[in-house]
Amino acid sequence: MNIVIRQEGIEDHKVVYNLVEKAFKEAEHTDGNEQNLVEALRRGRAFVPELSLVAEVEKEVAGHILFTEARIGKDTLLVLAPVSVLPEYQGKGVGGRLIEEGHRIARELGYRGIVLLGYPAYYSKFGYLPSVTYGIKSPFEVPEEFFMAVELEEGSLKGVEGMLEFPEEFGI
Ligand SMILES: CC(C)(COP(=O)(O)OP(=O)(O)OC[C@H]1O[C@@H](n2cnc3c(N)ncnc32)[C@H](O)[C@@H]1OP(=O)(O)O)[C@@H](O)C(=O)NCCC(=O)NCCS
Repeated sequence: MNIVIRQEGIEDHKVVYNLVEKAFKEAEHTDGNEQNLVEALRRGRAFVPELSLVAEVEKEVAGHILFTEARIGKDTLLVLAPVSVLPEYQGKGVGGRLIEEGHRIARELGYRGIVLLGYPAYYSKFGYLPSVTYGIKSPFEVPEEFFMAVELEEGSLKGVEGMLEFPEEFGI
C-alpha cells in the first residue's frame, strides 16, 4: 500500500473534520469532540502548520495527525493529539507513518520532545516512555504509564522538567 504523507492544506479541512469524527466513533477512549478540537487548535496560538499532516492512500485522505506547542516552564515541547485513521485503513501502518514523519519534521524544526496521552502498547513502538522518566508531569490525574514522552534527539529532554501546560483549546 502506497502511503503519502504531506502537510494539510485549507482544502483538506472539511475532509479532515469528517475523518477525525469517523476514526473516533469506534474508539475505546473518546469524548466525541476530537474533530472540533482539531478545528480549535488550528485557529490557536499553539498551531504549527508544518505539523498538521495528512496521509493519502491512492489519493484518498485516510489519516491525519496534529502536533501543537505546549509549554513546560520556559521550554516548549509538542503535544501529539489527535491521530486519526479511517476505520477501513486502520492496522495497515498509516498511523505509524504519520507518527514517524511527524517526528522527523519536528526534529528538523528543532523541537526537543513530544508528549501525549495514549496507549503504552502502541506508542512505545515509536520510542515513547512514561513521561515521569524525564521528570515531566501531567496537569491532570492519569495512571503514569499513559502519559508519555519521546526525545527527538538523544538526551534532548534533559533539564526539561515540571508540569506540562496544554494549549488552552484542550480545556485542561
Ligand atoms: C490509533 C490509530 C491512530 C492507529 O493507527 P493505525 O494506522 O491503525 O496503526 P498502524 O497500522 O500504524 O499500527 C498498527 C499497530 O498498532 C497496534 N495498535 C493499533 N491500535 C492500538 C491500540 N489501541 N492499542 C495497542 N496497539 C494498537 C496494532 O496492533 C498494530 O500492531 P503491529 O504493528 O505490531 O501489527 C488508529 O487505530 C485510530 O485512528 N484509532 C481511532 C482513534 C484513536 O484512538 N486515536 C488515538 C488516540 S489520540
